[in-house]
Amino acid sequence: MEFISPEILNYCESHSNPESELLQQLNRDTYAKILNPRMLSGHLQGRFLAMMSQILRPKNILEIGTYTGYSALCLCEGLVEDGKLITIDINDELESFSSSFFKKSKYEKNIEARVGDALQVIPTLDILFDLVFIDADKPSYSLYFDLVIDKMRSGGIIIADNVLWSGHILKPEAEQDFDTKCLHQFNEKVKNDPRVTVTMLPVRDGVSLIRKM
Ligand SMILES: C[S@@+](CC[C@H](N)C(=O)[O-])C[C@H]1O[C@@H](n2cnc3c(N)ncnc32)[C@H](O)[C@@H]1O
Repeated sequence: MEFISPEILNYCESHSNPESELLQQLNRDTYAKILNPRMLSGHLQGRFLAMMSQILRPKNILEIGTYTGYSALCLCEGLVEDGKLITIDINDELESFSSSFFKKSKYEKNIEARVGDALQVIPTLDILFDLVFIDADKPSYSLYFDLVIDKMRSGGIIIADNVLWSGHILKPEAEQDFDTKCLHQFNEKVKNDPRVTVTMLPVRDGVSLIRKM
C-alpha cells in the first residue's frame, strides 16, 4: 500500500532538496546490483532523516540495519564535526558494497560499520546516543528499543521505520502475519512507555519519532 499518491510523492520530492550525486549513484547501484532494493530509504525519507539529524546535531548516532548505506550517509549529514555513526548489519555480503560508498563520501572517518547481529552488538556499546535509527528485522524492534533506551541521552530521538508495514498493521489480528503482530506490539509498547513521547508519521512505510524524556 502506498500512503500517498505517486503525484504527491513526486511533488514532495521535487520541492525537497535533491539527493547528492553520491546518493543518486548509491540508489541506482543498489537497484541494479543488490537484492530487495525497496529496503533502501530513498529520496524523500533520506531527506527527512538528514533534516532530523541536522536539527539534532548529534555527536553519536546508532543505526540498526545498514543495508547498502543510504540512510547512514543521510544521517551523517547532521553530525557534529568529530561525531560518530555506528551502523550494524548482520549480512556480511553487503559490507564491501556499503563500505565502498562510505569511502567515497566525506563521512568515512565518522562511520564505524559493524557486521553482526545487532542484538549481540548493542550491549557491547558503551556510548550515549543522541539519535538511533531502527530499521532492521521487525520481530526485534521491541528488543532494540529495550536495548537502546538506557543508552540514550534525555531529549535523544529514536526513529523507527516501517511502523505501518504497508498498511498490514490495520488488518484484524487473526489475519496479521508474525512481522505485523510484532510491529503492532512495538507500536503499543512505545505509546504506553512513560519514558518517551511518540509521534507516528505516514512518511513512506510509516515512521515513528520517539523522544526520550
Ligand atoms: C530495511 S534494511 C535497512 C535499510 C537502510 N537502513 C536504508 O534505509 O537504506 C534492513 C537491514 O537490516 C539487516 N538486519 C536484519 N536483521 C538484523 C540483525 N539482527 N542485526 C543487524 N542487522 C540486521 C538486514 O540485513 C538488512 O540489510
